[in-house]
Amino acid sequence: MSAKPSKSATKAKTAYVCSECGADHNKWQGQCDECGVWNSLSEIVLEAATQSPAARRSGWAGKVEAPKVMALKDVRHSEDARVSTGIGEFDRVLGGGLVEGAVVLVGGDPGIGKSTLLLQAVARMAGDMPSLYVTGEESLAQVAGRAVRLGLPLDGLNALAETGIERILEHAAASKPKLIVADSVQTLWTESLTAAPGSVSQVRESAARLVRYAKETGTAVFLVGHVTKEGGIAGPRVLEHMVDAVLYFEGESGSRFRVLRAFKNRFGAVNELGVFAMGEKGLKEVPNPSAIFLSGGSTAQPGSAVMVTREGTRPLLVEVQALVDSSPLSNPRRVAVGLEQNRLAMLLAVLHRHGGIGVGDQDVFVNVVGGIRLQETAADLPVLLAILSSLRDKPLAEKTVAFGEVGLSGEIRPVPNGEERLKEAATHGFKRAIVPKANAPKAGSYKGLEVIAVERLADALQAAG
Ligand code: TYD
Ligand code: MG
Repeated sequence: MSAKPSKSATKAKTAYVCSECGADHNKWQGQCDECGVWNSLSEIVLEAATQSPAARRSGWAGKVEAPKVMALKDVRHSEDARVSTGIGEFDRVLGGGLVEGAVVLVGGDPGIGKSTLLLQAVARMAGDMPSLYVTGEESLAQVAGRAVRLGLPLDGLNALAETGIERILEHAAASKPKLIVADSVQTLWTESLTAAPGSVSQVRESAARLVRYAKETGTAVFLVGHVTKEGGIAGPRVLEHMVDAVLYFEGESGSRFRVLRAFKNRFGAVNELGVFAMGEKGLKEVPNPSAIFLSGGSTAQPGSAVMVTREGTRPLLVEVQALVDSSPLSNPRRVAVGLEQNRLAMLLAVLHRHGGIGVGDQDVFVNVVGGIRLQETAADLPVLLAILSSLRDKPLAEKTVAFGEVGLSGEIRPVPNGEERLKEAATHGFKRAIVPKANAPKAGSYKGLEVIAVERLADALQAAG
């Protein structure tokens, strides 16, 4: 998509945007300075020169006002006015509901359920705030058919099958919805650019128009974006900088479970997680997600350890699996899925140096069940326990959980929110918890959970049996 552009006839100011990382460049070049990818730059026309007659009529594009300086304390703002989406898990990921005038990008693989989720949400919200569902991918009949099949209330919800941003904004200016869903941002295009719809410059400019409209009018906007094979929102990752929140909707192929994750959120915690199940009647919330991330087997297996992690503000039980096997390679493999590779190397070094257990001639594979990515150090101890269990071919005691950070000198360090984690484990019927001493209650037990406090790696090895 990025052949070297010929000299443009227009006098419009142009920039060259990398389709991989969204970086701007003044002139065309073969390689992006930021991310080093070749042939990823394409020309976009900068906004000041982009006002088409239609855009001018609609009054939203390129409106230049003298900047106003104000004392910040005098600026009027709505105290976090939030509207519930009617879906608790969705609200949670948004940080407690949709903020008025917020622009939220919802990304995900094609077919994962983005349109379903947003249609369900917007149908419920439309009762309280007039809403406009703009569909560029499906016909109005398809959208209506789906809404009826899902049994959704349709009061206050208008739909528009349109992809031209000028006409969408004209409709919006006329009907003044408080919420717009644009499904999908990849189908949007503006008359003011000659680039093909779907190109980086079209998507970027169309999204920018919608964002500006949202900010000027206080209209909330959901942008739907398909992600590419590489995992970014197709084309311009630059969209991520324009919007207030970026949510990713993910799921394993073949699984009916879906996870909505906040990747960026100006109004709430990132890494907040909402869990849904896709069924006959669309997406249903899963209020107790801990259960689905455990592998399900009731008897403990060698190489398996259950931990309590935290995703956003919520504790979550997750299973960590390890496989340690003698390696035919001179350089044995260390593979970590759902976990940082370097962290695994570090843990193996600590295990050798302070636990006297070497796996230098073994391949080590570690996997976090359910496609979860563990980003906190509380995973250290359970990962070590899983490795140890596989090495010894001996399961941990039934109904055991663990969490804790492992330091380089073999000490087991406390992690935040210890009590909350213990509570989650107790709620799900676990019987034993191996945790850092500073996270353990003095009584040695917590709501029926036997708590084994460990201070050093040696204590943990002993607790593992
Ligand atoms: P969709 O919301 O169209 O995905 P996206 O907008 O992300 O591309 O969802 C498509 C899939 O979801 C489709 O394969 C069928 C499935 N689905 C159900 O299983 N149950 C339902 O009630 C609905 C509406 C969709
Ligand atoms: Mg869709």
